[in-house]
Amino acid sequence: MKPFCFADGKIIPIEEATIHPMDLAVIRGYGIFDFFRTVNYKPLFLEHYLDRFIASAAKTFIPLAYSREELRQIISDLIEKNDLKEGGLRMVLTGGISDNHFSPAKGKLFIFAESLIFPSQEKYEKGIKLLSLEYVRSIAEIKTTNYAYPVWHSVQWNEAGAEDVIYHMHGEISESSRSNIFIIKDGVVSTPEKHVLRGITRKHVIEIVGDVAIRPIYFEEMLEADEVFITSTTKILLPVTQVDNHLIGDGKVGNRSLEILEKFKDLANKLCY
Ligand code: PDD
Repeated sequence: MKPFCFADGKIIPIEEATIHPMDLAVIRGYGIFDFFRTVNYKPLFLEHYLDRFIASAAKTFIPLAYSREELRQIISDLIEKNDLKEGGLRMVLTGGISDNHFSPAKGKLFIFAESLIFPSQEKYEKGIKLLSLEYVRSIAEIKTTNYAYPVWHSVQWNEAGAEDVIYHMHGEISESSRSNIFIIKDGVVSTPEKHVLRGITRKHVIEIVGDVAIRPIYFEEMLEADEVFITSTTKILLPVTQVDNHLIGDGKVGNRSLEILEKFKDLANKLCY
């Protein structure tokens, strides 16, 4: 965690940030957030993350007291104040303090600056294992702070020696705990259409590849794919070489996945340097 955050309408040392104990974020787990990163002091794809954050606030009926322009300014001040060359910014809007302790109220905005540690190089080279679990995130399209199930599941996937989880329901896969998923079969790249967060990384991977099939994907299809990878802001693209006890393809990281990862990095560098 970096020393300065935004809370109570100003930039303050993080130890001074407070939240009311009756805020819906505390007593009901109700709130929204977003997370993006800086590359060379520039917030990568900022407008896309702001679009999603503002939409999440509207869809959860939590009034956001700041305009897009004000958010941009706060973010720029925080990057400067924390000297955040390569790091993460987390915007959190709480559910607010509600008269009946239930209905959404005026949210409190926090923005935190964080250091960002990518997964180890070994994971990009050897790929990771996912544990499959039957579950589907509720209101998956909105970036709420409700990760109770995934946090709870994390003990299970750690015990299984997996890096993360792949959720499926009625035979269809959706996403991992904090990432989207893609499969490649016979050169065709596909990603699930429904019950997923519309990831900003997913969006740019779709643009980079050009002709991604966005459609229902069956669990068995994933097992039989040539390559599988997950995408998120904190990982970019991480190859998946095993699901449960089943190896994907020949169990090695595929060339196409690495090619897409390199193209994504080139795009980020082009935009920020
Ligand atoms: N997670 N799906 C879920 C459920 C997520 O929480 C995330 C992001 C994604 C990928 O979205 P994006 O490419 O915009 O990061 C998909 C963030 C990084 C987190 O919770 O840490």
